[in-house]
Amino acid sequence: MSTTLLAVNSRKVFLTLGGGRGVTNAVFRSHFVSVPRRSIIDLSYSTHFMDFKGSSIPSSMKKLVVTKLSQNFKEAVSLQIVPVPTPGDADLLIRNRFVGINASDINYSAGRYDTSVRPPFDAGFEGVGEVVGLGLTASARFAVGDAVAYFSGGSFAEYTVAPAKSIVRVPAAEPRFLTLLVSGATAYIALKKLGDLARGETVMVTAAAGGTGQFAVQFAKKAGCRVLGTCSSDEKAGFLKSLGCDRPVNYKSEDLREVLRRECPGGLDVVYESVGGSVFDAVVDSLAQKGRLIVIGFISGYQTASGLLPVKAGALPVKLLQRSASVRGFFLPHFLSDYGEAMADMLRMCKGGELVCEVDLGEMTPEGRFVGLESVFRAVDHMYAGKNLGKVVVELPAVLERPPAGRGGGDPSACVCEAAVWANASVPSVHRRVATGDPPPSRCPRISACHNAAFSRLASVPGRSGPARPIPSPLRLPNVTARSTSDRDALQSFYSNLIPPTPYS
Ligand SMILES: NC(=O)c1ccc[n+]([C@@H]2O[C@H](COP(=O)([O-])OP(=O)(O)OC[C@H]3O[C@@H](n4cnc5c(N)ncnc54)[C@H](OP(=O)(O)O)[C@@H]3O)[C@@H](O)[C@H]2O)c1
Repeated sequence: MSTTLLAVNSRKVFLTLGGGRGVTNAVFRSHFVSVPRRSIIDLSYSTHFMDFKGSSIPSSMKKLVVTKLSQNFKEAVSLQIVPVPTPGDADLLIRNRFVGINASDINYSAGRYDTSVRPPFDAGFEGVGEVVGLGLTASARFAVGDAVAYFSGGSFAEYTVAPAKSIVRVPAAEPRFLTLLVSGATAYIALKKLGDLARGETVMVTAAAGGTGQFAVQFAKKAGCRVLGTCSSDEKAGFLKSLGCDRPVNYKSEDLREVLRRECPGGLDVVYESVGGSVFDAVVDSLAQKGRLIVIGFISGYQTASGLLPVKAGALPVKLLQRSASVRGFFLPHFLSDYGEAMADMLRMCKGGELVCEVDLGEMTPEGRFVGLESVFRAVDHMYAGKNLGKVVVELPAVLERPPAGRGGGDPSACVCEAAVWANASVPSVHRRVATGDPPPSRCPRISACHNAAFSRLASVPGRSGPARPIPSPLRLPNVTARSTSDRDALQSFYSNLIPPTPYS
């Protein structure tokens, strides 16, 4: 293995990103950012595992950093330009395509999760994207180009490094899969572990039309329950109806206590409660005998300095005892042992069309779709204005995707088709794909150029067995655009001949 040293000098980058008031002030600040030496020192290794050489990964990126503790997200968080991180041996470098907004983003920026943490620290809990670089150990399970999703810190960035063991493989980098990571998993696990749902029981979901509420409604219906859900508009009520919710309650036009008194005389068997304050009080007062109230959150207080609105806690022991009822807290990170099973089951339901995963990308907002890290601020405001329908998601533009240069021409390093990805991928991962019968699809308009690049790349690998092969120019493959089984077989056999019979090491 080559020991060529790639050293990027330590340098100070001074960035003036604009000025203005309000959001603009928060987002566009000036920063001195110390750019450390990049730790990739072996060029041959970096060529195999990251495509810096093809320059499709830039050396710097945008990310959101909590620089001051505050529940006011705009005050707490600022946009910075930093070096793209390098994955460790067991890590993936993921190019984020969609990142999820969570109500607790402002609890996190206020330092309420871990009071020992001091700024600066990264923001964002979840993302979906593509693998663009990886460590050697991580390459046993993943390859460049894989679509992945993750629930771990630092997702409000163009690129995130995450441990491979925490990654969920998804069919495509689509926002619907993002909805499952925190919002779906919370509803799935909380109702399963703490809900003890039984057919015919009455379930109340608060903030029912939001990220996690939409899943709680659907899982409670799947369990055969009668479901009520609170929301703040008729549009949301209509959405809840479409999910199967038996009784949407628009609390802006109806009195929640009155609805519960009139329509639930037997009380609520289970409550999936996310709002807190007076809503918490109202549902506690409506608990059935042996009713279970799961505390999912208390969003009504998050924007206050204490993070909480008062509840009638003094009377709680009496109310619970009189009905043998219980209040149960749920926090997703405490249930990670259940996470894999929950994700697998939800992905199956999602792929099978059995689960609605509603995404709110901000298309209906006056400023339009949430695109780019700058719009995370707008997306948080959208949620806290109670305007979102479904999971709030921000799209990060695909900076790599440049328009194809035309059939058979152009530079394959500027292309993101699968063959171009192969041209830059690690040899073990290409080998594994061939072994598992997963040759590249052929929709790229300049597929020949991309396959030629892959061919040259693989033909030049040291240790490749077999005679040296001329590089056909242009490479001719029969009907590569037809995507038939026989074409796939032809491509597979073509690639099989290019690489050694055992994984390259
Ligand atoms: N425990 C856990 O592990 C866990 C994990 C994920 C989420 N959560 C909790 O689940 C809840 C929902 O979170 P999410 O991220 O899925 O958000 P979301 O439901 O997508 O959005 C928040 C919704 O809360 C409702 N809301 C009610 N009162 C509000 C108020 N005073 N201010 C702002 N919004 C209010 C709004 O809907 P309406 O206008 O229709 O009422 C708003 O759309 C939060 O309490 C969050 O902390 C907990």
